[in-house]
Amino acid sequence: MYPIRRNRRLRTSEAIRSLVRETIISPNDFLVPLFVVEGKGVKEEIASMPNYYRFSLDLLENEVKELWKLGLKSVLLFVKVPDNLKDNKGTEALNPNGLMQRAIKTVKSVCPDMLVMTDVALDPYSSFGHDGIVESGKIVNDDTVEVLAEMSLSHAEAGANFVAPSDMMDGRILAIRETLEDEGYTDTGIMSYSAKYASAFYGPFRDALDSAPADVKDIPKDKKTYQMDFANRFEAIRETEMDIDEGADIVMVKPGLCYLDIVRDIKNEIDTPIAVYQVSGEYAMLKAAAEKGWLDHDAVMMEQIIAIKRAGADIIASYFAKDVVKLL
Ligand code: PBG
Repeated sequence: MYPIRRNRRLRTSEAIRSLVRETIISPNDFLVPLFVVEGKGVKEEIASMPNYYRFSLDLLENEVKELWKLGLKSVLLFVKVPDNLKDNKGTEALNPNGLMQRAIKTVKSVCPDMLVMTDVALDPYSSFGHDGIVESGKIVNDDTVEVLAEMSLSHAEAGANFVAPSDMMDGRILAIRETLEDEGYTDTGIMSYSAKYASAFYGPFRDALDSAPADVKDIPKDKKTYQMDFANRFEAIRETEMDIDEGADIVMVKPGLCYLDIVRDIKNEIDTPIAVYQVSGEYAMLKAAAEKGWLDHDAVMMEQIIAIKRAGADIIASYFAKDVVKLL
C-alpha cells in the first residue's frame, strides 16, 4: 500500500531499470530475410524499403559474412524470379539449378554454420502472382500442395535447414513433412507461416520481388481466399494447432505489430516456438516517418522489437535485424 510501495523506486536509474527489465533482446532473437536476384555485382535498393537491398549471389556472400560477424546466425531466403521463367505452376521453383537452390548453396559455402531457411510458396514464380496454381479463377489447394512438397524437397536437397511455407494452403505441412521423411530429410525442419493474415502491409515486399497478384480478368486480385481475415482471432489458434499436428517445428504469426494480441493468444495456448514476422510495410512506415523527421528511428525500432518479444515471440523475422544488433 502507498507509500510502503512506491512503484517509481524501481525506475529511479538505468541501473535499477536494467536490473528488473523483463525483456532483453540479443542477436539470437533474429531471423534475417534476404532478397536474392540474378546477375553479378548487383546490390539494388528496394524503392519502398530504404536501406534494404536485393543481392546477386556474389554480393550475397559478403552480406552473409557480415551478418555472421554481427552474431546473426539465421537467414530466410527469398528470390526475385525473372519474368520469362514465371508460369502458372511455378515450374521454375523445382529447377535444381534455380536461383533459390544456388542461393542456399552460396550461403552454405561461405558460412556453413549459418541456419538457412527458405520461403516456400509459388508467388515469386507465378505468372499470376499467386501463392498457388490458378484454375478457373480459383487458387486450387491440393495440386498446389503437391508442388510445395516437391519445392521443399528441392530446397532440402540444396542444403536448406528449414523450409518455411508461406502460402496458407490447407494440408501443406503434412504433405511437406511426409515428403521430407520419405526422402530421408528427417532433420530438415518446417517453420510454418501458420497464422498469416491477408494484409496490406505486404506491399513493399511485393515490390521487392515483383510478385503482386496480377490484374487479370476473372482472377482474384488479392489473397483473401487463402490468407486469413484480419478480423479473426480464434481461427489463428486453430490454424496453428493444425500445423503443429501436421508436423510444424516452428509456427508463425504475420504481420507483427498489429497482431500482437494473436501472438499472446498462441503463446498462452501452445508450447512450440513462435516466430513473428515484422513485415515490409511495418519497416517502410518507420523509415518514412523517420525520413520526415517525425519519429526517432532507433528509439521506435527498439520499442517495436521489444514489444514483439514481450508479446511472446521466440524468433523475430525483421528487416531491422542488422540495425538493432548494431545498437546493442
Ligand atoms: C509470399 C510471402 C509474402 C511475404 C512473405 N512471403 C507476401 C505475400 O504473401 O503476399 C511478406 C513479407 C513482407 O511483407 O515482408 N508468400
